[in-house]
Amino acid sequence: MKFFLDTANLDQIREAYAMGVLDGVTTNPSLMAKEGIKGKDNQYKHYIDICNIVGGDVSAEVIATDYEGMVREGEELAALNEHIVIKLPCTEAGIKAVKYFAGKGIKTNCTLVFSLGQALLAAKAGATYVSPFVGRLDDISEDGVGLIEDIVEMYNYYGFGTMVLAASIRHTRHIIDCLKAGADVATCPLPAIKGLLKHPLTDSGLAKFLEDYHKVNG
Ligand code: E4P
Repeated sequence: MKFFLDTANLDQIREAYAMGVLDGVTTNPSLMAKEGIKGKDNQYKHYIDICNIVGGDVSAEVIATDYEGMVREGEELAALNEHIVIKLPCTEAGIKAVKYFAGKGIKTNCTLVFSLGQALLAAKAGATYVSPFVGRLDDISEDGVGLIEDIVEMYNYYGFGTMVLAASIRHTRHIIDCLKAGADVATCPLPAIKGLLKHPLTDSGLAKFLEDYHKVNG
């Protein structure tokens, strides 16, 4: 399973890259706003900065909600860097735009997916990635990981090539559960990835090894 970082924060992206576990990045308008990046020129420059750190797929989301606008904006974004993946909402216009970009060999990430039916349409349109939002489904007492399982099963059964990108990951347990469900990618906040390292037996085992070493070596 690949790890994408779900942030537009350059320091966190550098840190995850330095750990050697970073395969890509996903952004959205809220994450860009969180970093205080205003205006199209600054936003486009920021996407290029992210691509230059990661060297893997970087999802950049369109703001347009109509088909023509999505195509125009998506083409501008795709021209920024070879690693840009056009992120399009799972709406009628978004699905049409996924189909358009698939026909041009440009990667897409169909986002804001909350149902099996939406995932089916994204795959039929030729999306590179589909992004089911695990945490937001859990927030309304639905089963986010259950949706990942269902989509993985459907894609395998019908032989769809679209990759399942588990999004809206909130904590380490979500990562483990999406891994077990067969997600191709999990896009995560950095603390959730670092949480995978934590185990009390690792801490106590290391402390004991060092204690024994120092008993003999001073
Ligand atoms: C990433 O592609 C999504 O936009 C993101 O994971 C949404 O996460 P949130 O539900 O925590 O805002």
